[in-house]
Amino acid sequence: MLKGAALITGASMGIGRALADEFAKHGHPVILVARSEGKLRELADQISAQHKVQAHVIAQDLTDPNAAHTLYDQVQALGVSVDILVNNAGFASYGFFHELDLKTQTDMIQLNVTTLTALSHLFVQEMLARRSGKILNVASTAGFLPGPLMAVYYATKAYVLSFSEALNNELRDKGVSVTALCPGPTQSEFQARAAMQDSKLVQRSLMTSHEVAAQGYAALMAGESVRITGFSNKLLMFMRRLLPRDMITRMARNAQDRVGH
Ligand SMILES: NC(=O)c1ccc[n+]([C@@H]2O[C@H](COP(=O)([O-])OP(=O)(O)OC[C@H]3O[C@@H](n4cnc5c(N)ncnc54)[C@H](OP(=O)(O)O)[C@@H]3O)[C@@H](O)[C@H]2O)c1
Repeated sequence: MLKGAALITGASMGIGRALADEFAKHGHPVILVARSEGKLRELADQISAQHKVQAHVIAQDLTDPNAAHTLYDQVQALGVSVDILVNNAGFASYGFFHELDLKTQTDMIQLNVTTLTALSHLFVQEMLARRSGKILNVASTAGFLPGPLMAVYYATKAYVLSFSEALNNELRDKGVSVTALCPGPTQSEFQARAAMQDSKLVQRSLMTSHEVAAQGYAALMAGESVRITGFSNKLLMFMRRLLPRDMITRMARNAQDRVGH
């Protein structure tokens, strides 16, 4: 049977790259989106040769305010119908909010929140017309709690989690499912790019991007609303419900502080 095409943002590395591989492995044609065109082309060549699926590349900076519409138009021009939208691209920055660059913080909101929302709105219309489609939004365990030293990032992921759960409720009986994938700290370029390698949070052994991607694919196919990856992350998120929120915030601050602090 012909499998539906998946558009994956942030496919050039990390979890997005692993998701692209996972979808291709299961026979889905893929549209790979990120800024690093060379990396995307290399990946497209590799997965189309290995898994015998079509792999398209669209190089696009998704912090651009018009990015979602531009991307949507480019996909229309390819003539591929997107059956699965994977909103994965995202980044963080580490430090006190008042000391971090404001433009970086607003770009983060643009990418992690605004572009994700706009892409969902654009692509869901055709899914609804077909009464069939799936959206995988990569949130985070960060979406469940406030995150001192990564205040904006945690808030963006709280949005992604809440938005995805609400959308899943609205769309379920219309043939479209929405899944929020919530990884804990995972091996990728994310920590280096966020300049958070000294945070206590990432000193333990981390899940691999491939483990996270496999769980994301399984959760999406099963139509799950929320998937937290890994047993210890699930346990932590469960324990979080039992404690007062100010205590959770202090614990998150402690977990995120620099080693030796
Ligand atoms: N790693 C973790 O610990 C962790 C945990 C929970 C959730 N997550 C979430 O997982 C998702 C993927 O992160 P990752 O860990 O795989 O990080 P990563 O290795 O840094 O990859 C991020 C991806 O997003 C793309 N991207 C970043 N800025 C972009 C922009 N302006 N326009 C278009 N694409 C952009 C990057 O591609 P280019 O640079 O080529 O554009 C790259 O493909 C993110 O939403 C992140 O918040 C990560």
